[in-house]
Amino acid sequence: MPKSEVKTSLLDNMIGVGDSVLLEPLTEDTFLENLKNRFDHSEIYTYIGSVVISVNPYRHLPIYTPEKVEEYRNRNFYELSPHIYALADEAYRSLRDQDKDQCILITGESGAGKTEASKLVMSYVAAVCGKGAEVNQVKEQLLQSNPVLEAFGNAKTMRNDNSSRFGKYMDIEFDFKGDPLGGVISNYLLEKSRVVKQPRGERNFHIFYQLLSGGSEDLLKQLKLEREFNQYNYLGLDSAKVNGVDDAANFRTVKNAMQIVGFMDDEVELVLEVVAAVLKLGNIEFKPESRVNGLDESRIQDKNELKEICELLGQDQAVLERAFSFRTVEAKQEKVSTTLNVAQAYYARDALAKNLYNRLFTWLVNRINESIKAQSKVRKKVMGVLDIYGFEIFENNSFEQFIINYCNEKLQQIFIELTLKEEQEEYIKEGIEWTHIEYFNNAIICELIENNTNGILAMLDEECLRPGTVTDETFLEKLNQVCAVHERFESRMSKSSRFLNDTTLPHNCFRIQHYAGKVMYHVEGFVDKNNDLLYRDLSQAMWKTNHVLVKSLFPEGNPVKMSLKRPPTAGSQFKASVATLMKNLQTKNPNYIRCIKPNDQKAPHIFAEALVRHQVRYLGLMENVRVRRAGYAFKQPYESCLERYKMLCSQTWPHWRQGSRDGVKVLLTELQIPPEEFSYGRSKIFIRNPRTLFELEDLRKRRLEDLATLIQKIYRGWKCRTNFLLMKKSQIIISAWTKRHFQRKKYLQLKNVTLIIQSYIRGWKARKLLRELKHQKRCEESATTIAAYWRGFQVRREYRKFFRANAGRKIYEFTIQRIMQKYFLEMKKKLPSMSPTEKTWPPRPYFFLDDTHTELKRIFHLWRCKKYRDQFTEQKKAIFEEKLEASELFKDKKALYTNSVQQPFQGDYLEISKNPKYQKLNGAVEEKIVLADVVNKINRANGKVAPRIFLLTQSNFILADQKSGQIKSTIPVMDITSVSVSKQTDGLFAVHLKEGSTAAAKGDFLFTSDRLIEIITKLYRTIFFKTNQKINVEINNEFLVQFNQDKVCVKFIQGAQKNGNLPTCKRKNNRLLEVTVP
Ligand SMILES: Nc1ncnc2c1ncn2[C@@H]1O[C@H](COP(=O)(O)OP(=O)(O)OP(=O)(O)O)[C@@H](O)[C@H]1O
Ligand SMILES: [Mg+2]
Repeated sequence: MPKSEVKTSLLDNMIGVGDSVLLEPLTEDTFLENLKNRFDHSEIYTYIGSVVISVNPYRHLPIYTPEKVEEYRNRNFYELSPHIYALADEAYRSLRDQDKDQCILITGESGAGKTEASKLVMSYVAAVCGKGAEVNQVKEQLLQSNPVLEAFGNAKTMRNDNSSRFGKYMDIEFDFKGDPLGGVISNYLLEKSRVVKQPRGERNFHIFYQLLSGGSEDLLKQLKLEREFNQYNYLGLDSAKVNGVDDAANFRTVKNAMQIVGFMDDEVELVLEVVAAVLKLGNIEFKPESRVNGLDESRIQDKNELKEICELLGQDQAVLERAFSFRTVEAKQEKVSTTLNVAQAYYARDALAKNLYNRLFTWLVNRINESIKAQSKVRKKVMGVLDIYGFEIFENNSFEQFIINYCNEKLQQIFIELTLKEEQEEYIKEGIEWTHIEYFNNAIICELIENNTNGILAMLDEECLRPGTVTDETFLEKLNQVCAVHERFESRMSKSSRFLNDTTLPHNCFRIQHYAGKVMYHVEGFVDKNNDLLYRDLSQAMWKTNHVLVKSLFPEGNPVKMSLKRPPTAGSQFKASVATLMKNLQTKNPNYIRCIKPNDQKAPHIFAEALVRHQVRYLGLMENVRVRRAGYAFKQPYESCLERYKMLCSQTWPHWRQGSRDGVKVLLTELQIPPEEFSYGRSKIFIRNPRTLFELEDLRKRRLEDLATLIQKIYRGWKCRTNFLLMKKSQIIISAWTKRHFQRKKYLQLKNVTLIIQSYIRGWKARKLLRELKHQKRCEESATTIAAYWRGFQVRREYRKFFRANAGRKIYEFTIQRIMQKYFLEMKKKLPSMSPTEKTWPPRPYFFLDDTHTELKRIFHLWRCKKYRDQFTEQKKAIFEEKLEASELFKDKKALYTNSVQQPFQGDYLEISKNPKYQKLNGAVEEKIVLADVVNKINRANGKVAPRIFLLTQSNFILADQKSGQIKSTIPVMDITSVSVSKQTDGLFAVHLKEGSTAAAKGDFLFTSDRLIEIITKLYRTIFFKTNQKINVEINNEFLVQFNQDKVCVKFIQGAQKNGNLPTCKRKNNRLLEVTVP
């Protein structure tokens, strides 16, 4: 757990009692004892309910660290041990969250720690409110306004080394978020008399010492200053140095702060020039000079100082010198100038110095306000911090102390009004039975001072305005007349004899019994200080300077704006501004810090009981405690009470659903707390005895330990469950993402596929279209090409003869033609004889003409043959046809054929028509004779031969006797079926007849003839012409013939021939006829 998280309750580890309300028993002694006890343990803060008592430790305590700020941040008031931060936090949160304007009222006598407390509150609020560049700048400016105002408005006094010599009320403005927007500072009556005179042991305002100590040589030279304090009449010499205060360092801090707040460099310069001028004014001295007219006059002793002042302020020396010497009074349009004596000159000098410084201070406050004022116009919430000069009693108390103490009196009153009265009224409001607690109400003292008719301030004003001689004494006299009977007013001159014998009270003094003690005031200076007049000559002289700042500080010096009206007196001004302040404070929610000064030595660890007791008394702290605990020591709203103790009762823990008042009732009943110990208010529970509260606390502490275990248990369970839920959630997220991823992937795939398909289809379509277009284009191109070629072709054809490219071909063709021509011509010359039998043929001249040559040879041969054939007559043609027929029938089949080739086929060898022997025969033959020859007929029976005429006509063949020509037989050629011959050279042939024909009665014929080839050829052809049938010509060395009814085999055998070429036939038997052939 971080350090800031450590919870220390108001009631935990308590030193003494943190809240005095819980003191038991409650007496002044126990109260002081408790304060002392805590003070000794460095616990300087103690509560009285919500009021913070702060005892000045006079030493640095480590309780204002940033860690402490964090610790108290957003914590309830009573949650932690008492601290000023708790109050600041409560106020800030109330402002931010409940939209309530706040005021922090810090009271206490001088040196009690008010200024420190106010700075602590401011720094805490600055630390916890919003952050950011702009906000931080606002914060810085607000915080840095303090060192500037302290330098010019604070001084070392007998009571406090850093005593505020002015009252300050600062409104810090916030927006609705609680971010600071800016601020407004109001200042109250600066103790300006300090500028010219300080009581013994005290100092002038810090800035003079800081400037002389911390200013660089150059700066001092520029401001015409010496570094030594003793050079200046206005600086108290006996306590120029303050222990533990580094004026030089503080000067640097102030300059830096001025820069942060927004002072320009030249503005700082102007301010320091005024400071220097004030300081130097004190060194102007006057000497008396008697005039002839008896009037006292004064003269400046050493004009060097005056000269330097005039140089610093851009002033005409004579003007200032005159202002110190004369006084002009204007009455009834009449100007009267009177000379000033030495005393008056000193008075004028000091009045100028005081006024200059006072006005400079007011200007500074205004200038700071200008810087820190809120820029935006949004509705603001305000936290006011009041830090005024504390109640003080000096040896010689004057008008300033009177004013300061009056202011404190007023503050005490507001405290009484709001705390003691309010507290008591609350009980009545809450319906609690209540007996009034008496307390001292200082209203009577306030009345004494501020009453409009007979108050001291009213008297003073009256005296100041009264015509005639007015002195402080006349004022005191007046007081004695009017206030003598007032119980809080004391004076020797009072008509009442009460104080006539009081030697402690000088005659020029009056004494007031303030709430915080009796203070004796010397009347000297009251009238003057109240009048606060500056000779017009001086303000006019100041207005005449060339110094921008000084000029602006004395607007009444401008003759144009000059007015004869008296300005309001200092007293009435102060009274009015305090009244306004009080009114303002009453509209805000008050938060009290009551500062106590533990000793007069400004020393740590000393707790001067008598001193503190005195303060406790006059501050009315006991009454405060008593009111808070009269009857009831502790009160708390039901909600908070239930919240704090609800764990002590099973019914209220952990949740109480009904009203918190009922809850608290149930709680207290169950805890069996005696009913007289508490009382139920309307909104709060009132606990009578502190012991009861402690008892409750003890119970709570014990219960908390149990609860801690429970919380631990629940926390662990919660942590595990949270972890589990987180994991589950993560798992769902992961799976969702995974699913998404896959779906997406799938979708993308699908998309891709679709796109691919789409693109393919588109591609396909496009390609198809492209193809078509290409085809179309090609067609067009082709048509063009064809047309072009065609035209080209035509043109070329027309012009080919002119083409050189064709020359080769032409030449080639020509050459070939020439070669062919030559070849043919040569061949013509070389042609062989026209005889078809000629075999010779000239050799070919060229190889490439091989085929042609052969072909030509063939053609020539055919042509030769044709030519040869063309010579033939019809007759000869027939002969050749017969020869050809003979060749077809017998060539290479019968040996006899070769002999026949040479023999022409004459046919009619017998010329029967011419031969008278055959006249008859000739007459019998009607048809054309195809063949007529003599053949040998072989006797079928014995084989003997007999000559016969063989006559063949176109339809018959006739056998006739050779000698007579007697026709032996006529056989129609149609009856011949076949012819048989041997393969030999013999002339035997058999004519086979159709069976059953008349000619066949005797059987087939056997003949021999040398002209066998011709006879058979003609017979064959005749039968063919007649019957259109080719008869069979059997060529064999053995064949059958039909003789009568017998089939006889004719068999050829080789043998010696008796009768030449004729065959010798011999019938061997019925079946065989042997023919012997060569
Ligand atoms: N909380 C504190 N811690 C340490 N020192 C402190 C604290 N409060 C006051 N002091 C010391 O006491 C001195 C006087 O305090 P401070 O100036 O606040 O008194 P004051 O009440 O403003 O007096 P005056 O009325 O004269 O202005 C401071 O200079 C400082 O040294
Ligand atoms: Mg102060």
